[in-house]
Amino acid sequence: QIDEAEVVAFSVPSYACLRRTTLDNHNPVLTDALSLLAENAELSDEDGRGVAFRRAAAVLKALPEPVTGVTQLRGLPCLGGHSLRVIRDILENGASSEVEFTKQSERFKALKVLTDIFGVGAKTAERWIRDGIHSLHQLQESGQTLNRAQQAGLEHYDDLKQPVTKAEADAIGEIVEEAVVSVLPGAQITLIGGFRRGKLTGHDVDFLITHPEEGREVGLMPKVVSWLESQGFLLYQKTTRNSYLEAKDGPARPASNMDRFERCFSIFKLADAEKRGTKQTENTPEDTCRLAAHSQVTDEGPKPASGHRRWRAVRVDLVVSPISQFAFALLGWTGSKLFERELRRWAGHEKAMSLSSHALYDNKQGRYLKATSEEEIFTYLGLEYIPPSERNA
Ligand code: GTP
Ligand code: MN
Ligand code: MN
Repeated sequence: QIDEAEVVAFSVPSYACLRRTTLDNHNPVLTDALSLLAENAELSDEDGRGVAFRRAAAVLKALPEPVTGVTQLRGLPCLGGHSLRVIRDILENGASSEVEFTKQSERFKALKVLTDIFGVGAKTAERWIRDGIHSLHQLQESGQTLNRAQQAGLEHYDDLKQPVTKAEADAIGEIVEEAVVSVLPGAQITLIGGFRRGKLTGHDVDFLITHPEEGREVGLMPKVVSWLESQGFLLYQKTTRNSYLEAKDGPARPASNMDRFERCFSIFKLADAEKRGTKQTENTPEDTCRLAAHSQVTDEGPKPASGHRRWRAVRVDLVVSPISQFAFALLGWTGSKLFERELRRWAGHEKAMSLSSHALYDNKQGRYLKATSEEEIFTYLGLEYIPPSERNA
C-alpha cells in the first residue's frame, strides 16, 4: 500500500488524438527502442505489430516525466505484454536484449540500408536480400534493374540520408513560393509535415498548395514542376494525379470533383547557404566543375569529390488541393502518421464518421461535413483542438 502511494501513476487517454504530444519527449531511450521494433515489424510485413509498438511508444512520448519503474505504467493504455517486457528490460538492465539483437541482425541492417534508398520499399528490399544483396555495393554490382526513382535514390543516397534542417526547408519554401506565384498569381503554399509540427529536422520537406478560388488550382502541378525544372531546381520528380480510389484513405469517398489531388515526389537541388542569394540557373554542371576547380585552389586543400559541390539533394513533397478540401488536406498531411491514424480510428469507431485528407463523411447523417479550418474538423469529431506542435505522437 505504501509503495503504491509513493509511485507517480500516470494517466493517459488511449487515443493519441486525445493527447497533447509535444517534441519534449521525457523517455527517448524507451521510445527509441519501441520505435526500432516498430520499424523492424513494418519492414517485415507485420504491420499489426508495427502499429502496436508505435502506439506503445506514443503513450510514453505523452508522459510528463521519465519512467523509473514499471509500476508507474499500471493502467496505461496501449502497453501490451511485449512492449512492457521491452520497457522492463531497459529499466532493470539498461538495455533490451530483443532490441540489441534486432539492431545487430544482418537482416535488419540490410533492410534498413536498402529501404533508405528513395524509391525502395520493404517488398523490393526483401526480394533483393533473398538474392543475396545486403549492401549498396552489392546492389550496384548485382545488375538489378532499378526504376527511375531508385536510380535517383541511389545516386543521391548520402545527401538524402542527411537530415534536412529548418533553414533548408525555409529556403526551399521560398523557391516553391516563387514557382507557384509565377505560374498562378494568388496561389498559396503552406509548410506541412514534420516542420509544421515544429520539428527542427526532417527526412523531407512537405508543402500544400492551393488557390482561394475553387478550380483555379486545376493543372497547377505540371506548371509548377515545369517552372522548377526550367530553373534547374529538380534532380528528380514524379507527378501523380491522386485519384481517391488509389488513396489509402479508407471509405471516405469524396465527390467526383475530388479526384484532382495532384502530388509530386521530388528531389531538389538546393544551393549551399552562401550561394542561395544568386540565381540557381548559374548552377549548371559546368559551373559546379568550375567552382569545384576554383575551390581546390582557395580552400585549405583537396577534398573528396563530393566536398566540392556547392549544393545538396533534398527530398520535397508537393501536394495541390482545391480550397474546398484545404482544411482536410492540411490536417491529413501535417501528421504525425500515428496521430493521423488515431484521428481516423476515433472518427470511425467513436463517431461513425469517415475522415480522409479530402473530406469528412458522417455515416449517420449520410452526408459530407464541410470545413474551412482544422478547428472545425476537430469540433465535428467532438475533440478538443490540438495544435500542430502537440500532434507529435
Ligand atoms: P519527416 O518527413 O520524417 O520529418 O516526418 P513527416 O511527419 O513530415 O513525415 P512524411 O513527410 O512522411 O509525411 C507527412 C505527412 O503526410 C504524414 O502525416 C503522413 O501521414 C502524410 N502522408 C504521407 N504520405 C501520404 C499519402 O500517400 N497519402 C496521404 N493522404 N497522406 C500521406
Ligand atoms: Mn516530411
Ligand atoms: Mn513527405
